[in-house]
Amino acid sequence: MTKRVAILISGGGSNMVALCESMVGDHPARPVLVASNDAAAGGLAKAAAMGIPTASVDHRPFGTDRAAFEAELLTPILAAEPDILCLAGFMRVLTPGFVGRFAGRMLNIHPSLLPKYPGLHTHRRALEAGDTEAGCTVHEVTPVLDDGPILGQARVPVLAGDTEASLAARVLVQEHHLYPAVLRRFAEGDRRPVIL
Ligand code: GRF
Repeated sequence: MTKRVAILISGGGSNMVALCESMVGDHPARPVLVASNDAAAGGLAKAAAMGIPTASVDHRPFGTDRAAFEAELLTPILAAEPDILCLAGFMRVLTPGFVGRFAGRMLNIHPSLLPKYPGLHTHRRALEAGDTEAGCTVHEVTPVLDDGPILGQARVPVLAGDTEASLAARVLVQEHHLYPAVLRRFAEGDRRPVIL
């Protein structure tokens, strides 16, 4: 039975594009929705161009009431009846209530080698620490930010003269390989980590 995948984005959606482009042929999943907290997110137009239904709920009118924003966002998500939820450049912290609804079937990609550098500015932190390698992690989403079971990792070298931008670009290339590989394995019911 084909798994239905909803993807949440906040920006350009390059990871969403990589995921959607991978879900073809004998892939066990298909995208059924791309939703965003920002109606101007560039990824929404990319999803629409691929014929994927989209939705957006602006988080700003809800202020600090995360649960109210999530209640609105849940409407199009639940209507799409997803089996799997993928966070892909989604920049809102989700409440335990929302996470709990998708326990065990919500994934996120984070631009560091977790458990190192949960949270923001991961590349800056790796450079400031003098790390010789960096990378990205796909993990199951749990109520603790960037902390769930690791489903995949990809490593890149940190090169002399790297800036945040050059390191981010190198990691992003690997994100686009890692996330689709993890999603396919996850959709097949296999939780063995993908190590690239
Ligand atoms: C990526 O670095 C991803 O790891 C982070 O958001 C950035 C932008 O992702 N979560 P995308 O291009 O919007 O997929």
